[in-house]
Amino acid sequence: MSELTLRPAGEQLPLPDVDMRTKLAGITFPNPVFTASGCAAAGQELDQFFDVSLLGGVVTKSIMLAPRSGRPTPRMAETPSGMLNSIGLQGPGIDAFLDKDLAWLASRGARAVVSIAGGSVDDYAKLTAKLRGRPGLAMIEVNISCPNVEDRGQVFACDPRAAASVVQAVKRAAPTGVPVFAKLSPDVTDIAAIATACVDAGADGLSVINTLLGMVIDTDTLRPALGGITGGLSGPAIRPVAVRCVWQIRQALPDIPILGMGGIRTGLDALEFVLAGANAISVGTTVFGDPSAPVRVLDELARALAERGFARFEDAIGLAHNPPVLYVPEEPDPVGDELPPPHHPVTFETED
Ligand code: FUM
Repeated sequence: MSELTLRPAGEQLPLPDVDMRTKLAGITFPNPVFTASGCAAAGQELDQFFDVSLLGGVVTKSIMLAPRSGRPTPRMAETPSGMLNSIGLQGPGIDAFLDKDLAWLASRGARAVVSIAGGSVDDYAKLTAKLRGRPGLAMIEVNISCPNVEDRGQVFACDPRAAASVVQAVKRAAPTGVPVFAKLSPDVTDIAAIATACVDAGADGLSVINTLLGMVIDTDTLRPALGGITGGLSGPAIRPVAVRCVWQIRQALPDIPILGMGGIRTGLDALEFVLAGANAISVGTTVFGDPSAPVRVLDELARALAERGFARFEDAIGLAHNPPVLYVPEEPDPVGDELPPPHHPVTFETED
């Protein structure tokens, strides 16, 4: 018999009294915790552990026009505080995805953020057109940053003009009222410049960040550990990079909605992203070891906000850019007047 205690579907979590709603490009989500693309397929497996409609949204594995088998195995390698994946955008193709996966998410009442990936601008436009009129579609995430492609020229997010042309095509084809978020790569010199190009091309928001291009060499076989040779690094190892990217984009684009991600395992990790400027966050790699992580992170984030005196999640967004003056009660000096007051410059006399 399993020891696992499952939450009954639809059960509300006992959240502290914090208004966790967040607004992304005019759409209000009940809370700011989403899954991350590629870490939970379309949510069916996670739904064994918790009701996926409790999340702000479910971001699906990037889908392409045609079914795709992906890269050769092995496709995963462990790294210190992270993992490398080299999946290669395996998937059933958009038609099967719409009929099975998106339809299932809609039937569960989940807010689906459909991630699309293409090999050309035209692919992205065709994928987007197929999403018109589909129930359950809350947002489109345009994956222009998958590192696991044969040709680095296909990583549109590494070039501002290429990124902009994809975003423009998707915006033209997108259903009215469905926000389009561009997913950016950290593997660039100036992520704020790429972000600005996407926003100028019509992106309603940004997903920040995808994995970093990495590599592991197996010292027993003396060859690359991954069949695809290189892979995308995710997990806690990349969190400081991701927080830095969110911070830089928030500084450059104060009003653009940001979905932040990269190594979030706890509510405090999530809070870092929010303070850096994320309007919502995605929980990814950690679900491989802890499938309930998204709802746990939501609960921990709400508690962390309550403990810090926030009544509304949205009040914490970007706060580290302009932090409040913290009230620190004055402590009586335990040794009387013999020591200088705090912050008084201390000088030492020398013997000579
Ligand atoms: O290989 C993959 O399917 C990964 C995609 C991504 O990181 O965007």
